[in-house]
Amino acid sequence: MPVIRFVREDRDVECYPGENLREVALREGVELYGLKGRLGNCGGCGQCITCFVDVVGESTPGSLSNRTGVEEQKLRRRPQSWRLACQALVNHSVLVLTKPQVGLGDADQKIAAAKAEPLPAGPTAWPMQESDEADSTDASAESATSDEEA
Ligand code: FES
Repeated sequence: MPVIRFVREDRDVECYPGENLREVALREGVELYGLKGRLGNCGGCGQCITCFVDVVGESTPGSLSNRTGVEEQKLRRRPQSWRLACQALVNHSVLVLTKPQVGLGDADQKIAAAKAEPLPAGPTAWPMQESDEADSTDASAESATSDEEA
């Protein structure tokens, strides 16, 4: 499964392939928002532009879903590596810097250290539930239907 490496927080979080980056961060208690976003955000609709992340590394090109139309519009004056977490689906492992608009004193060192540690290839597979594979040896009862033709 993909791993999201949150560089600022120095945390790796596993998620299902295709999960929404914002939802994973919120679930795991990773703070995405600066003050403005904490005071009020759009709840993931792509309208408040407060859930920025900077994608600083990927296990595979295209680890996140492509930028949405909302992102193309809202992020046109931002670096190409920035995404709106609420618009991004995680397909493969990524390294992200939350709140890139907020300074991080030793950002270059932290990013280099995070990149130096290998990311899992992911996704491996959706988790499999114990098989409900019923014995297919059951004799199937073939019911003979009457030949009623109208
Ligand atoms: S939560 Fe508002 S733009 Fe992402």
